[in-house]
Amino acid sequence: MQKVIAWQNGAIKLLDQRRLPLKVEYLACKKVEDLAVAIEGLAVRGAPLIGIAGAYGLVLGVWHSDAKNLGADFRKSYRRIKRTRPTAVNLFWALDRMEARFNSLIKSGVAAGSFKKKLLQAALDIHHDDAVTCGLIGRYGAELIKKNAVIITHCNTGELATGGIGTALGVISIAHKMGRVRSVYVDETRPLLQGARLTTWELARQKIPATLICDNMAASLMAAGKIDCAIVGADRICANGDFANKIGTYSLAVNARYHGVPFYVAAPLSTFDVALADGSRIPIEQRKPDEVRRFGQCRTAPGKIAVFNPSFDVTPGKLVSAMITEKGVIRPPFGRAIKGISG
Ligand code: MRU
Repeated sequence: MQKVIAWQNGAIKLLDQRRLPLKVEYLACKKVEDLAVAIEGLAVRGAPLIGIAGAYGLVLGVWHSDAKNLGADFRKSYRRIKRTRPTAVNLFWALDRMEARFNSLIKSGVAAGSFKKKLLQAALDIHHDDAVTCGLIGRYGAELIKKNAVIITHCNTGELATGGIGTALGVISIAHKMGRVRSVYVDETRPLLQGARLTTWELARQKIPATLICDNMAASLMAAGKIDCAIVGADRICANGDFANKIGTYSLAVNARYHGVPFYVAAPLSTFDVALADGSRIPIEQRKPDEVRRFGQCRTAPGKIAVFNPSFDVTPGKLVSAMITEKGVIRPPFGRAIKGISG
């Protein structure tokens, strides 16, 4: 497995996902601003991974602080990282967990030297726990996959998006090891091509047979009876089961329901936001118009054409057949089931 993120000598080392699959290059974030820009530019991405990155970012923010500036530097870093991307709740979950640890360390009066090491340990724990969580999601989810399955997935939800084997892609990976996966159709995931650039790269490394399609080709494959199930990840899941994920997930779910294809969501409990009653309240990130006017580096539309470019959409929970978490599989009605596992 390629190391995707690591704390190294007072800096955060990141696999720069903007360069994949053409180059495997690392980025060293020595300041909080470097990390914030890396998150905004999708050098590091995927809901659980930006939570992990944010946690390391708060350590970075105080790593060179002297005792009297610890609090102010921490708060400044917290505010900057919080502003990077609004949709994935894992980021805020991780920042809040780190803030609670920071406050308890302040209260306990630990000396500045060991204070920083203990705060780093809290970030390492978030990273490690996510790896364990991915393994559990993978094992529970693999049980839903029938023998010889052809699966469709959207965006990237694997090692590049988490601290472990991934969520939806982790399920595929374990089901493949169990001999259950015939092949995977990968939505290219316009406009930033996480499917084409990242998921195909991960599947190839694991020798899982994969076929790349444009996002608008899924319905015709389903109509031809060529897909057995769809599995996606999530950036935020509300109390009623509505969830945000990469733009295009909603249409995949509608197509799956119409064609009677089971549609699964794989996500850790850190992706659940039970404070939000339904999906209408999820903040959706709007990104730059040029991401749509261009295909990679190449301009494919008039330079001034108006553009709609939400990074995520909201899929109603009623289109979901089951959700896979580290505590097991839940099925509709999700309101009751989510209350049960998130309590
Ligand atoms: O904009 P991105 O690439 O960060 O979007 C990622 C997704 O939408 C993933 O499906 C989601 O974060 C789940 S990752 C396990």
